[in-house]
Amino acid sequence: MTILVMGAGGRLGMEFMDRLASLDDVTGLTHVQCDITDSLSVERAVLELQPTVVVNCAAQPSVDACEQDRDQAYRINVLGARNVAHAAYKVAAKVVHFSTDYVFDGTAARPYVERDAVGPVNWYGRTKLMSEEVVRQANPDSLILRVANVYGAHGDNTVTAVVRAAQAGTQLVLPDDQVMSPTSASEIVQQTMLLIQRGAVGTYHVTGKGQTSHYEFARSVAAILGLDAQLVPVHAADILGRVPRPLSTPLAHEHLRLEGQDMMSEWDQALYEFLVDHKHALLHGGEEA
Ligand SMILES: NC(=O)c1ccc[n+]([C@@H]2O[C@H](COP(=O)([O-])OP(=O)(O)OC[C@H]3O[C@@H](n4cnc5c(N)ncnc54)[C@H](OP(=O)(O)O)[C@@H]3O)[C@@H](O)[C@H]2O)c1
Repeated sequence: MTILVMGAGGRLGMEFMDRLASLDDVTGLTHVQCDITDSLSVERAVLELQPTVVVNCAAQPSVDACEQDRDQAYRINVLGARNVAHAAYKVAAKVVHFSTDYVFDGTAARPYVERDAVGPVNWYGRTKLMSEEVVRQANPDSLILRVANVYGAHGDNTVTAVVRAAQAGTQLVLPDDQVMSPTSASEIVQQTMLLIQRGAVGTYHVTGKGQTSHYEFARSVAAILGLDAQLVPVHAADILGRVPRPLSTPLAHEHLRLEGQDMMSEWDQALYEFLVDHKHALLHGGEEA
């Protein structure tokens, strides 16, 4: 298997590069090395490398940035995703594409399964939903993995925000009525590789199991790390000027479960293991423990 990772300099992209480093046939291209909005550049890279799998981690995942520049968000999240999927199709490669729990409207009274009706409430969610559609159309050999609230060894996330706030002695305000399924980046990589090895295609929910609020998640981080963090619960609707987010987006892994392929852990177990492994790096700087 020859794997090409697009967006290799991002949070998930770096996790893939870390975890797959022992494989000979893995190439990562960062934004500077290949801009996915430039279809010719994407095609050139894919034709040159002749991968069997293209993992697309390149995106604009910031809800605020997507709202601020809708054209650019559409260019990256939709047209860029299409370029990658189409280039993979041209060399008969599988494309792995990442989507989000934000394709749902967050009003369901139970965790969403893959076949539930979508209804994004912000432009980020809309672009990611459109990305799913264009990827499926451009390449039938596509794996679309919906992930949520990812944390890992690289880049900023809720875990690093809690550590920073605790160390600076500043408050961190988090919604206690917005619930989701936090997800370990390293578990995403493991689950993705299993699905690739089994030749899976289609849409899968790949998150930590269970659900929690952003506030409770941050409290868990502080408790496990033994940090005295000033965490302030608020209602999402009371955060002034905030771009709307869906309120309740836990994801159920119906496709993984029915196919007997679910290797994702309960969110709190995965968080505990991650924090134990990365405690030193998180508290004392550096990316590796
Ligand atoms: N993080 C989460 O909590 C979360 C939740 C749900 C879904 N997801 C999805 O997971 C995937 C990975 O997200 P992430 O958290 O790893 O995001 P990230 O850390 O922001 O990484 C995205 C990467 O894409 C690169 N990029 C942006 N525009 C590009 C372009 N035109 N061409 C090539 N590369 C480009 C960025 O490079 P520059 O920074 O240099 O521009 C960055 O390295 C995305 O599809 C996202 O929608 C993430």
